Amino acid sequence: MDLFEYQARDLFAKHGVPVLAGEVIDTPEAAREITERLGGKSVVKAQVKVGGRGKAGGVKLAASPDEAVARATDILGMDIKGHTVHKVMIAETAPEIVEEYYVSFLLDRANRTFLSIASVEGGMEIEEVAATRPEAVAKIPVDAIDGVDKAKAQEIVAAAKFPAEVADKVADVLVKLWEVFVEEDALLVEVNPLAKVASGDVIALDGKVSLDDNAEFRHPEFEALHDKAAANPLEAAAKEKNLNYVKLDGEVGIIGNGAGLVMSTLDVVAYAGEKHKGVKPANFLDIGGGASAEVMANGLEIILGDPDVKSVFVNVFGGITACDAVANGIVQALELLKSKGEEVDKPLVVRLDGNNAELGRKILTDANHPLVQQVDTMDGAADKAAELAAAAK
Ligand SMILES: Nc1ncnc2c1ncn2[C@@H]1O[C@H](COP(=O)(O)OP(=O)(O)OP(=O)(O)O)[C@@H](O)[C@H]1O
Ligand SMILES: [Mg+2]
Repeated sequence: MDLFEYQARDLFAKHGVPVLAGEVIDTPEAAREITERLGGKSVVKAQVKVGGRGKAGGVKLAASPDEAVARATDILGMDIKGHTVHKVMIAETAPEIVEEYYVSFLLDRANRTFLSIASVEGGMEIEEVAATRPEAVAKIPVDAIDGVDKAKAQEIVAAAKFPAEVADKVADVLVKLWEVFVEEDALLVEVNPLAKVASGDVIALDGKVSLDDNAEFRHPEFEALHDKAAANPLEAAAKEKNLNYVKLDGEVGIIGNGAGLVMSTLDVVAYAGEKHKGVKPANFLDIGGGASAEVMANGLEIILGDPDVKSVFVNVFGGITACDAVANGIVQALELLKSKGEEVDKPLVVRLDGNNAELGRKILTDANHPLVQQVDTMDGAADKAAELAAAAK
């Protein structure tokens, strides 16, 4: 999960990284009172989860409360690289900035380690610096067990050639940022710029943090960081039910067991759809190996609740959970939905293969549900589902 700048700033503050005050608002007028409180001037900053806001006009200085309201009016609603600005941070203005540095910690998957990246040429041109003069950007591996103590931080500071007068302060910031990285279970912690101001202090003026979703179980507080406004409602509902669901933009609802099977189901449906008005898969949904009737019902409920879906393809390869169990699951799921008043009104194409396929098919044949039809092959079933979706389009 990527965080907004203001959320990253809150985490930095919690771990003692020097940051400036700021408040998040979603109406321009609110900028006035905050700017007054900040001493009559402020910086208005678009809160979007994409880099390069400054260059896109999403970061503006305001010399008065009136100006802050005007800049907030400009920035709220702006589109920055496809992200609409719904919130702005009204931040304290940094004292005179003398230099801008870049520092980060991230997971380096390719080298199976963590990595610190640091440069004394930070700021909005850091991508340009990295591309044209890679020698200006130091990359130092960080051992997962040793982590970053003051000595390691000094090694990073030396490698990036930070000026002597800030070396100690930057090293302190690095130790605290590593604490953010470890204690918050982050995959990325980045500060750009880490500004040196006239007094000689360093301040984190902008932060990017990406948290590891797999660690969410030990951070109940992550829940509050989710951007509910951006989430697709079907994806949010599926998440509530612990389903591996991704909304796509087609018309054929897909349920399968096993991520690999579901991926190839998307391919065969997209291919079959070329002959049927160009229909495409409406979603990815992997109900996993041990799919109970309840999981099947939850999956069907999500997919049938998608107004874009015109037909559903249930593609199951019986393994540990055999086809008869899955077939019973489908029958029970349809009954469960009916009893909830959500009777299925879209055609279902079911393909069962693998362990106990014969028995599974018989169960569905005997159940004789008017909207369920079976096709024995994956390609044939994909074609049928695409044809039905095209007919209803
Ligand atoms: N609170 C502040 N006070 C003064 N100047 C600021 C402040 N925040 C940002 N700036 C200036 O605006 C520039 C751009 O801001 P910031 O880094 O927050 O946005 P960005 O363009 O999205 O960053 P990135 O390039 O890292 O994506 C900074 O490099 C800094 O010079
Ligand atoms: Mg920045």
